[in-house]
This record gives sequence, structure tokens and C-alpha cells, in this order.
Amino acid sequence: MKLAAPPLPSLWIAFLISMLLVSSNAAFSPRILQQSTSNSKNYLTNEALWFNQTLDHFSPYDRRQFGQRYYEFLDHFRTPDGPIFLKICGESACNGIPNDYISVLANKFGAAVVSLEHRYYGKSSPFKSLTTENLKYLSSKQALFDLAVFRQYYQESLNSKLNRSNVENPWFVFGVSYSGALSAWFRLKFPHLTCGSLASSAVVLAVYNFTEFDKQIGESAGPECKAVLQEITHLVDQRLASNDKELKAMFGAAEV
Ligand SMILES: *[C@@H]1O[C@H](CO)[C@@H](O)[C@H](O)[C@H]1NC(C)=O
Ligand SMILES: *[C@@H]1O[C@H](CO)[C@@H](O)[C@H](O)[C@H]1NC(C)=O
Ligand SMILES: *[C@@H]1O[C@H](CO)[C@@H](O)[C@H](O)[C@H]1NC(C)=O
Repeated sequence: MKLAAPPLPSLWIAFLISMLLVSSNAAFSPRILQQSTSNSKNYLTNEALWFNQTLDHFSPYDRRQFGQRYYEFLDHFRTPDGPIFLKICGESACNGIPNDYISVLANKFGAAVVSLEHRYYGKSSPFKSLTTENLKYLSSKQALFDLAVFRQYYQESLNSKLNRSNVENPWFVFGVSYSGALSAWFRLKFPHLTCGSLASSAVVLAVYNFTEFDKQIGESAGPECKAVLQEITHLVDQRLASNDKELKAMFGAAEV
């Protein structure tokens, strides 16, 4: 099941309420459940590393750079020729490499795991203020080239650590949701830089007014919960129209 933020605030609130109601149903939403426990999540590492990224990959004149944060975990790495797993971070801060199934796979395949924070998120913002002008370098196309440049940079620094040159480890990319789309596009666009891609719940097709999203939530929730969900959505819509400040305050979102 595809999960992304529903477009309307009232839907979001109803959705969160529904998550409270159905959170005992494990099949419903692994991703949202994960988020609620993310503070206690174990990381393989959260020791940040930095490298200088090109701000605009499509201008031959603009030489500006910004610091991009990344992580590496080498405990399972089969030196020197094991695979390298690149876990792509998406539209949120990337605070480390979580100890999830990628770690299990890394252990099995003797892989190094590296992860790059997406430009403009977390600590990888090229600008201090996010004015419209400053936001023009935020795009999935730029992000794909960030990944390609990082991949080359990391391979070269690994080579120099191992006193060798012109050697390529096999690279495999992973992503979920938006970063799942990046993962699929990366493989398509740079087939010479990766031997494979896992694109989980990848949003590779933009659909306007995607009502199937709500239908799927209704189906997963079951008829009883779906009816409650629709009622709550309706009530929240009404309240947003009549007294949105009070309603938002109830959810700690008065400033939104
Ligand atoms: C990034 O660029 C800055 C400024 O030019 C430099 O001081 C720093 O050493 C560079 N960092 C890396 C990791 O190359
Ligand atoms: C690489 O070369 C340096 C200098 O010759 C040496 O000190 C180091 O141990 C070498 N590293 C490896 C991994 O072989
Ligand atoms: C979205 O699609 C639904 C169902 O087809 C329709 O009722 C609704 O008016 C559409 N909304 C927008 C904003 O296009």
C-alpha cells in the first residue's frame, strides 16, 4: 500500500486519528508506525560525515558548493570488494543509518552501508533562508545528480583508503516512497553507477486528485472503521471551515 501525506489537513488529522484506532492492525501501516517509534530507533550509526556538493549540476558557470551530510557503516563490509548499499534519504532530516532490514542484508552480503541526506533537508541546506529564489535548486533532478556525485566521491575515497585506483565496487541503491522513486530513477539514469535498485512504495507516477489513496485506506481499515473515518473527516472539514484556530490548537498545530 502506498503511503504519503494526504493533501488536505483535515484528511491528515482524520488519518492520524484513524491510526490511533487501528494501530493494533499491523498490516495497515508499517511506515507510520515506524515514525511514531523513530525516537527510540536504534541506529547503526549517527555519526555525521560531510562532503562538498555542487549546488547546480546543470550550470557550467556556477561553481558554488554546499555541505551535504552522509553516514557510513563498515562493520559488515567484506574488504576490499564487497558491495556498497546506498540508502537514499528523502524529504526529511537524515539522522543516521537505522538498524533495519538493510542491516540484515548488509550482514548477509558483506556490504558497506552509506546514506546521503537529501539537499535542503536536515543539515544539508545550501541556504540559511528558504526564499523562493533560494529554493530553485531543490528538485529531484538535482538530487539524482547529488547521488551520482556522492557515489563517485565515496568510491574514490574508499579506493584511496585501500591504496588502489580505478576499482569499482558493486553499488546497490535503496529507497522508500519519494526516495523509492529516486532509487528507481537513479538506476534508469545511471545504469553504469549501480547494479540494482530497490524501489519500495515508489511514487514514480504523479496523479492529480489521487482518490485511490483514500479508497485504499478505507479498504484497509474495514467497513466499520471506514465509516468512522468518513464521519471524522466530515466533522473536521466543518470545523476547519467554521473555527480552524481552535481545532488546530487541539492538535498542537496552532501555528500551521
Ligand atoms: C569543503 O570546502 C571547504 C571550503 O572550501 C573546505 O574548507 C573543506 O575542507 C571542504 N571539505 C571537504 C570534505 O572537502
Ligand atoms: C596504504 O599505504 C600506506 C602508505 O604506504 C600504508 O601506511 C597503509 O597501511 C596502506 N593501507 C592499506 C589498507 O594497505
Ligand atoms: C477528485 O475526484 C473526485 C472523484 O472523481 C471528484 O468528486 C472531485 O471533485 C475531484 N476533485 C478535484 C479537486 O478535482
